[in-house]
Amino acid sequence: SAKTVPPPLILDRKFVVPLLCGPGPCAYWPSVTEALAKPVITPNCDEFYNVLDDIRAGLQYVFQTKSKLVLAMSGAGHSGMEAVISNLVAPGETLLVASRGMWDQRAIIIANRLGKYNGIKTEITSVPSNTTFSMEQLESELKRTRPEAMFITFGDSSTGTIQNIERLGDICHKYGALLLVDTVVSLIGVEFLMDEWGVDAVFSATQKAFSGPAGIAPVAFSALAEEKINNRKHEPSFYIDIKLLANQWNCYGDTRTYHHTLCPPMLWALRCCLQEIVKETLPVSWARHASSTAYFHQRLQEYSIELFVPKPEERLNTVTTVMLPEGYNHLEFHNYMREKHNILVLEGRGPTLGKAIRVGIMGVNATKEVADKVADALADSIQALRK
Ligand code: GLV
Repeated sequence: SAKTVPPPLILDRKFVVPLLCGPGPCAYWPSVTEALAKPVITPNCDEFYNVLDDIRAGLQYVFQTKSKLVLAMSGAGHSGMEAVISNLVAPGETLLVASRGMWDQRAIIIANRLGKYNGIKTEITSVPSNTTFSMEQLESELKRTRPEAMFITFGDSSTGTIQNIERLGDICHKYGALLLVDTVVSLIGVEFLMDEWGVDAVFSATQKAFSGPAGIAPVAFSALAEEKINNRKHEPSFYIDIKLLANQWNCYGDTRTYHHTLCPPMLWALRCCLQEIVKETLPVSWARHASSTAYFHQRLQEYSIELFVPKPEERLNTVTTVMLPEGYNHLEFHNYMREKHNILVLEGRGPTLGKAIRVGIMGVNATKEVADKVADALADSIQALRK
């Protein structure tokens, strides 16, 4: 009848898989494709909790933390960001955001939305988006604003910069602030030492240098952060409540409490990524990303292609922001790279929108062979699209 909805025609579609060289999503480890098809596991079984234990051990390794409060959120990297901010910044408290790109802007949006209901205040300090912060600037802002927490992006995929945070934990703690760090596009590709650097809360994502699917977001919390979570008076949104999720993930070994239904293929995939990373080891992965990205930059230099970030030591070893020459349209450029070379790169976002093309030599694609292919294709595209 006119009231029913007829079945739609859902046809099989062909998809030409491009070489994934944007800022993410990255190509999977071949073993991850198989892992996604592993059996359904359910929260009543030991198999299920063994998988969670394996993931937590792997995450302690990749974050370099001995903390027990380590788990993965059911969601994209943004769920990690929401969790870190909502669980650690209480009503009426202040979050200082160190702003240089698009992701810290998201932190500001999240904190401001919470602030409408509970009075969280946001303070912002910024630098030009093709540079990074000095410790002096961050310390003087901590002194001025006296926040309960500071948010900073370690590697920033919108600008292609890497922020030095080695001493930042100590500086934050000196002023009574927790240090919250976004490692979405940097973890696995760049050295990160949570405990040694005094990071209090960190989140990442699996579709970047992990070389897995998007949709599960690793997070970890320090002892200081854990104490704050356990003693807090406020209740964050139920779905991202770390206190409850710690019980679901059996972080302390004595709870196996149902919270929400976890997605088995994502658990298998993350576990598989971690197995691959453990096999390679972090130092080897960091070195592979450093050498393939340095080689990529050298190849671009040979073609006189300019980079958005002027100082080599501030360039991120996973995602490069390549200057889009004057007069070029980024969509046309993107489409040409895809159609002619079957390479997927992405437009600039946030501060680099319309100004740069973002290229990821990252995860399983962090190799000199891929760097060569992309550098040659970029040079060809610049030549071909010259007006
Ligand atoms: C998305 O994650 C991006 O870097 O654009």
